[in-house]
Amino acid sequence: MDGKLKKPDSSRLTRQDKIYQVNMRSQSKLYHINEEFQIFNRHVTKILDLGYVPGNWLEFSKLKMCEVHGLPEDQINSRCHFLGFDILMSPPPPYTSSMQGNVFSKAAHKQIIDHFKELALREKLIEPETDSQNSYFVNEQTDSRIDEELEKLETGLRELRISANEGPGWHYKPDLILSDLSLPFIQDKGFYHNTQTKPHMRLANNPGLNEPVFNKQKSSIDMADVSLLLSCELLKQHGNLVIRMASVDLEDPELEVLSQRLERVFSRVEERQPGTEDEIFFICLDKKEDAIDKSVIFTK
Ligand SMILES: C[S@@+](CC[C@H](N)C(=O)[O-])C[C@H]1O[C@@H](n2cnc3c(N)ncnc32)[C@H](O)[C@@H]1O
Repeated sequence: MDGKLKKPDSSRLTRQDKIYQVNMRSQSKLYHINEEFQIFNRHVTKILDLGYVPGNWLEFSKLKMCEVHGLPEDQINSRCHFLGFDILMSPPPPYTSSMQGNVFSKAAHKQIIDHFKELALREKLIEPETDSQNSYFVNEQTDSRIDEELEKLETGLRELRISANEGPGWHYKPDLILSDLSLPFIQDKGFYHNTQTKPHMRLANNPGLNEPVFNKQKSSIDMADVSLLLSCELLKQHGNLVIRMASVDLEDPELEVLSQRLERVFSRVEERQPGTEDEIFFICLDKKEDAIDKSVIFTK
């Protein structure tokens, strides 16, 4: 024995070991980004995670926000909301939400935006109830209270329809967007039903979706661009965007052009390589304006 620790022989790892290793690595990269840039801070309450499956970043975000806001996991939704978006189906971690769709679809962008708008509407209309108000027994006894509530909701909705176009107090936009769009990790659950298994297989066989398999480097740039496009419209002013590009050619001139596009939208853009050589993170801080004209970003 020379006293040195040996690196585990990867050919001896079981499938479960490999899944565990990949998940740990994925969370630890986000951990290091946060240690340096404090992207999870007390100003953050709404987070969108693009490409969330199997859910490492969603889980990490939720636990970090529990720590920051000093709330136990089962009460975190009283303050924070987490939405994961992916083309694959996978149950999101507890106390987070998810949506399935193709990130290149305009309709999917609208659905994500509507999700955050609806959330804000609900927060505005529904005041927290006291325990006695919650009691079904009391509710059944007091029809007049139900009428009153309905009237309040109706008036609220009417007023909101007028002020919904970004009036004061209309804060629906997420403060942080995470983007980890690339080749999926190996399937880790749900082998026994088609809802999870079929999309995994379709991703590799569908010519519109399999770019991350056959054209990794260029598709990384497309995925980063699509996250930027959505952020122009959806991310809050002063909000942050973190993009992981799983596979890049550092000599590719398109990478420099992408970086310039990011700088048009954010006051500060940093690049980091916490993992392998061909992987890069863009940490885009402090969005300059609330709504940014996408056409200008892409035509300048
Ligand atoms: C590396 S994985 C994300 C891992 C996740 N951040 C985690 O730590 O658990 C990349 C994800 O991007 C998703 N993805 C790839 N192409 C997509 C597309 N066109 N629309 C939506 N999601 C896509 C894949 O399904 C995959 O789940």
